[in-house]
Amino acid sequence: MNDLNAIKKPISKDIKAYHQVFKDTVRSKIPLLDVVMKYILHTKGKEIRPIIVLYSAGLVGEINQSTYYAATLIELLHTATLVHDDVVDNSNKRRGMFSVNALWKNKIAVLSGDYLLAKGLLLAIETKNAHLLEYVSKATRDMSEGELLQIEKARKLDIGVDLYYEVIRKKTASLLASCFATGASSTISDKALIEKMWQIGEYTGMAFQIMDDILDYEKTSVTGKPTGIDIKEKKVTLPLIYLLNNSEPAKKRKLMDTVKHKNNNPESVAWLIQEVHRAGGFDYAREKMKEFKNKALKLLMEFPENDARKALEDIIEFTISRTK
Ligand code: IPE
Ligand code: IPE
Ligand code: MG
Ligand code: MG
Repeated sequence: MNDLNAIKKPISKDIKAYHQVFKDTVRSKIPLLDVVMKYILHTKGKEIRPIIVLYSAGLVGEINQSTYYAATLIELLHTATLVHDDVVDNSNKRRGMFSVNALWKNKIAVLSGDYLLAKGLLLAIETKNAHLLEYVSKATRDMSEGELLQIEKARKLDIGVDLYYEVIRKKTASLLASCFATGASSTISDKALIEKMWQIGEYTGMAFQIMDDILDYEKTSVTGKPTGIDIKEKKVTLPLIYLLNNSEPAKKRKLMDTVKHKNNNPESVAWLIQEVHRAGGFDYAREKMKEFKNKALKLLMEFPENDARKALEDIIEFTISRTK
């Protein structure tokens, strides 16, 4: 985490301003919602998305009030998807604390997630920053599609590398992409440049989700989320896909049977993870993750050098070296 603290330091005033907007935005007069919102405010995550929004503005122009709105809009949307995702994944922990569904049950979590999303959209409209919605609504659609595509495929377990990439591009990379794009679009209007920013974010997001999927397998991981939940939910991710693709039919059947029918048995799951290790599934996933990271960096280097570029470079590196 130290890395991230160092990255945040030069823009601490801007982060403070963004925090204020975020806090003011999630208020509610409905007591139950207000309690949930206070809990959410209390359990902040890494805030990598707002940091990217701020530095993306700094890369091509000046951080301004619209940048704070863009950062808030994206973190609201991100938080909404996490609250929903924990319902979908049946997960009781988030950011080292109980998830909203664990404390208040699914019904309230779903409705609170909707509220967060609505507040984000309203913020863009009320502050006359509707142009930010161009990128963010695209990401919102992609995220729902990505999660549903994943569920559909998890049912059959027939997921190859290309499909995996499609899922993570939609469910994760599109929002990271919109961080770079909206940050830039809060200060400039050059479409071609904003598109380029989008692309940097998409590559970064691909690397980000591959890392998340690797961390999910690690028993000792300190993510503040339950580990091993992907196999439990029959989510087949890159390290395991590699193993499946490189196994003899009989072995493959045994592996698939474990995911399908023994995914709640700790010993079977431990065996599966050991097999992934042995086959080099983690090395492969890390290799692919680095490729995406390098693509992002290469595009970033096409921008003129400044402090924001250096910070974005550090953030992209952080994406693949993080432990949470
Ligand atoms: C978690 O994102 C969801 C994924 C896309 C993997 P983060 O790891 O950025 O979550 P927080 O906001 O820091 O908790
Ligand atoms: C990312 O997938 C989910 C979203 C894009 C919301 P995961 O289900 O792996 O995310 P975590 O691990 O729960 O944060
Ligand atoms: Mg999840
Ligand atoms: Mg995960």
